[in-house]
Amino acid sequence: MSIGKNPSSFRRMIKQPESQSSILLGVNVDHCATLRQARYYHEPKALIAEPNVLDFALLSEMAGADGITMHLREDRRHVQAFDVEQVKASINTRLNLEIACTESMAAYAIKLKPNSVCLVPEKREEITTEGGLDLIENFDRVKYVVCAMSEANISTSLFIDPDEKQIEAAVRLGAPWVELHTGTFSNNFALGKYKKAWNALRNGAKLAHKLGLIINAGHGINYKNIHLIKNLPHLNELNIGHSIISRALVVGINEAVKEMLQLMK
Ligand code: PXP
Repeated sequence: MSIGKNPSSFRRMIKQPESQSSILLGVNVDHCATLRQARYYHEPKALIAEPNVLDFALLSEMAGADGITMHLREDRRHVQAFDVEQVKASINTRLNLEIACTESMAAYAIKLKPNSVCLVPEKREEITTEGGLDLIENFDRVKYVVCAMSEANISTSLFIDPDEKQIEAAVRLGAPWVELHTGTFSNNFALGKYKKAWNALRNGAKLAHKLGLIINAGHGINYKNIHLIKNLPHLNELNIGHSIISRALVVGINEAVKEMLQLMK
């Protein structure tokens, strides 16, 4: 795979969210697949395999989601390649594909051509994505994938902790977007002592904006902490999965997405 054109020129082609009146919502449907795999691990493609990830994605879109996010993990513990391909072929909004920063996943993304990829760290032993991608430690690998995506006209988002050095590294890597990891804030919010984590997120968003990055955020955002998260400065999009899927178990996916969109206003 060749290193592509300079990604910073690609960044200039992406619309900055200056004119955007509201925060966008990407619904992460991974945990719909988690539930299906719990029963249909051996035959996820069977017609009776439920819940149906594609239905969930389409209903999320109909309820007002601006995009669908899916993480195709290397261990395929939830979303499968056929899920991603069905969703890509059927949705009318955008597919944001989360991938590990590896050559094989980059090659997969280039073939699939999602609207964007988000590079995330992946550890086999974690339950979900814990912590952001360390751009300094993995600089060359990330650069390779960012350039390859840029060459394929796929924009890249980097999932990072709201840390000054990581944000500066994202700029050096030429990715147009960062997704700030809101996990530390969310965990601390649940414990009722989130001030430090909130300040880190807010300062991170301000710095990223000042340096010309588009700012998304995600991980652990729910119906209780959204009233704070939505006030993060310069926010373009939130990627929310677990809380929306959980709420959908009670009220249905249509209502769950609408409730979140209402709270995001
Ligand atoms: N953004 C990224 C990059 C993620 O890895 C995840 C978790 O899969 C999310 C957002 C969504 O997190 P949650 O399921 O906690 O809403």
